[in-house]
Amino acid sequence: MNSPEALKALHEKWVRECTCTLKEGATQAVVGDGNPQADIVFIGEAPGKNEDLLGRPFVGAAGKFLGEMLDDIGLKREDIYITNIVKYRPPNNRDPLPEEIDACKEWLTEELSLIKPKLIAFLGRHSMNHFFPLEKISAVHGKLLIRTWPGLGRQHFLALYHPAAALYNGGMRSTLKEDFAKIPAILKKIKSETTAS
Ligand code: URA
Repeated sequence: MNSPEALKALHEKWVRECTCTLKEGATQAVVGDGNPQADIVFIGEAPGKNEDLLGRPFVGAAGKFLGEMLDDIGLKREDIYITNIVKYRPPNNRDPLPEEIDACKEWLTEELSLIKPKLIAFLGRHSMNHFFPLEKISAVHGKLLIRTWPGLGRQHFLALYHPAAALYNGGMRSTLKEDFAKIPAILKKIKSETTAS
């Protein structure tokens, strides 16, 4: 049952039970946010300074850029669901360590199993490598990837560059926008396959 109440209960349980050591230095958990019935879920890396203070994912500069790209494809934040592989801010925004990703991984799996999105879009290599450890984002960005995943079954994925990395890099920025523009057609294709089968 992917209701807002079920999702809230899931996050409350994991805020209590998550053993991630990043908890100690963080202001609060930054749990996933948005529509529990979304067709598309975006997965980022870890909360930054603004997210840590406000308790909401993607509220800083990267979030603003993400909002603009969503707008370009006719979607609003309320239409999508957005989360991170790690729910607590790493000190000085360093990359999350494998053991930190490991400590939050069941939390992520449970929220994805509850939402059951048609498409999971990775924002950056950290979330992509959690699901596709051998892939390079420079090689697979903008391409539809399919694999089975516990709790999700056969799942469609799309790798995108991280908006924070692309924000001030002209080439990466236009690539990210081009990849983002593919989302409506990809969703349409997935939906037509699901209806046909
Ligand atoms: N970058 C991320 O990966 N996640 C956030 O929530 C904010 C910035």
